[in-house]
Amino acid sequence: MPGSSRLPVSLRETFNARRSSPRGQLVALNVDVLRNIIFILFLLRWTRKLFYQLKGRGITGSVADIYTNTRRVLYGIFLGLPGVRTKVQTQVAETILKLERKLVPSGPGVERTVALPAEGWSAEQVRKALEDLENMEHTRWEDGRVSGAVYHGGDELIKLQTEAFGKFTVSNPIHPDVFPGVRKMEAEIVAMVLSLFNAPDGAVGVTTSGGTESILMACLSARNKAYQERGVTEPEMILPETAHTAFRKAGEYFKIKIHLVSCKAPSYKVHLQSVSRLINPNTVLLVGSAPNFPHGIIDDISGLSRLAHKKKIPLHVDCCLGSFLIPLLAKAGFESETFDFKLKGVTSISCDTHKYGFAPKGNSTVLYRSDEYRKYQYFISPDWSGGVYASPSIAGSRPGALIAGCWASLVKQGENGYIDACHKIVGTMKKIESAIRENHSLSTDLRIIGRPLVSVVAFHSPTINIYDVADAMGEKGWHLNALQSPPAIHIAVTLPIVAAVDQLIADLVEVVEDVKDKERKRIAEGKGAKGQAMGDSAALYGVAGSLPNKSVVVDLAKGFLDTLYKA
Ligand SMILES: *Cc1c(COP(=O)(O)O)cnc(C)c1O
Ligand SMILES: *[C@@H]1O[C@H](CO)[C@@H](O)[C@H](O)[C@H]1NC(C)=O
Ligand SMILES: *[C@@H]1O[C@H](CO)[C@@H](O)[C@H](O)[C@H]1NC(C)=O
Ligand SMILES: *[C@@H]1O[C@H](CO)[C@@H](O)[C@H](O)[C@H]1NC(C)=O
Repeated sequence: MPGSSRLPVSLRETFNARRSSPRGQLVALNVDVLRNIIFILFLLRWTRKLFYQLKGRGITGSVADIYTNTRRVLYGIFLGLPGVRTKVQTQVAETILKLERKLVPSGPGVERTVALPAEGWSAEQVRKALEDLENMEHTRWEDGRVSGAVYHGGDELIKLQTEAFGKFTVSNPIHPDVFPGVRKMEAEIVAMVLSLFNAPDGAVGVTTSGGTESILMACLSARNKAYQERGVTEPEMILPETAHTAFRKAGEYFKIKIHLVSCKAPSYKVHLQSVSRLINPNTVLLVGSAPNFPHGIIDDISGLSRLAHKKKIPLHVDCCLGSFLIPLLAKAGFESETFDFKLKGVTSISCDTHKYGFAPKGNSTVLYRSDEYRKYQYFISPDWSGGVYASPSIAGSRPGALIAGCWASLVKQGENGYIDACHKIVGTMKKIESAIRENHSLSTDLRIIGRPLVSVVAFHSPTINIYDVADAMGEKGWHLNALQSPPAIHIAVTLPIVAAVDQLIADLVEVVEDVKDKERKRIAEGKGAKGQAMGDSAALYGVAGSLPNKSVVVDLAKGFLDTLYKA
């Protein structure tokens, strides 16, 4: 009984008191042993946790984590104080109301359909209504005014996609015998995308409803694989902090603990040593982006791949945004980096056909090095009273029309079409980049983030409030993306932007001058930065963004989602 000496004295006395009969003594002895074992297991578990925490984040990192968490809790308590709470709630409600006025048309002239019309409309009426809905006042994506968002391949392609839709509107790949054409197209789409990413023999994939679902599936498969093959019950994954938020969603949905690794200046790529230190027996997946959404930077995928291969951990490369651009960079004559299945450690890749593949929205693919990974994302229910049921991803019934639209886009564009698009899009990104680096009116106040190689160019400012720039561009009809930590904005170039880029640069020059003027005036008048009338991004990111506890932002975002469903 070597362990019994570790029990506290009072506990031992309690046991001793029960040891009056031999039988009683035996029971007490067993309870004693059991208690010790449980205690030791408990101790081991926490020592292990502490060890991996210290190994992963170091002492300074761990102290910093505790500091951040404490600030968050304290600020949460502050927000909950009676006076503060009502004030915050009123302001949140006001902001949401403002948003509602902006998004939900109201007033006497607005017609709403909130119940089925008792008598169906005529086709002509429906057509007219659809036209009005299409033409509601909006940010002009058609004129290239929107960063990202609309990835289309030109009017001719849209027409073709619509025809494809028409032929397959009722089709559903869940019934391959009824819709053999849809099954064939879906399989061919996966094969075409696989070949684009240098997939080895035996590589497989599935199609999904979008990048988020592709990422969710890759995470689910990694989690299930680790559970089945290694018995991991407390899964963890390691993400660059710039990785798409869909990975955080996967963490929440599938209960995978997330470790974020910083992507610091000047490269803004994920810090490899930090990733390496965070790996432990619970790690089920490493992640890299090619490129990431915020800054358009490609992580060091070769480095991640070496790490993943050495430690025998799956590595997912998120090419949702890179999609059909990044595999063709070299062929289009641009600088490139290795990021795909050529690297031994890369086990899965997500590629959005609905981004630079120009497929209709609602389409993406997730590729796996082999079936040993894909099989863990399948859902199979052998004993359901509705029959044996099997489906590859989240959805049950799926739109065959979208598959037809996607297939039509891929074969219509062809490799040459995508290379041509790559030329235009990446060329335009470079044009914006060099304007910001070289045009004197921009280069003094704006700084490019890292070295972008694909379609996104992000910049921040050491001298002026970058969110004011975003808002002023908004007033000129441009919709650029505001980013946070660090404060910055980005432009994701799409084909419509290619045609509008000169205007974009000219407006940016003007806006930067304006913002500088306004700041100079404010300083001359002795007002602090606070006195100004703030635009939307400045208000959201400039003020709320700096709070230690973002519960106010959460409330605002929830209000936003609610607003979307107000008729
Ligand atoms: C767009 C994007 C995704 C997925 O987004 P969806 O909107 O779900 O298609 C994932 N990763 C990156 C880097 C992206 O830009
Ligand atoms: C942040 O604040 C909210 C209340 O405003 C609180 O409910 C929440 O627990 C806080 N977050 C943390 C991590 O303490
Ligand atoms: C297109 O999207 C649907 C879901 O919206 C999905 O079921 C289908 O597999 C996708 N097809 C392709 C080719 O991406
Ligand atoms: C900077 O850009 C503006 C707007 O496009 C242009 O008018 C100006 O000539 C450019 N200046 C330089 C030095 O390139």
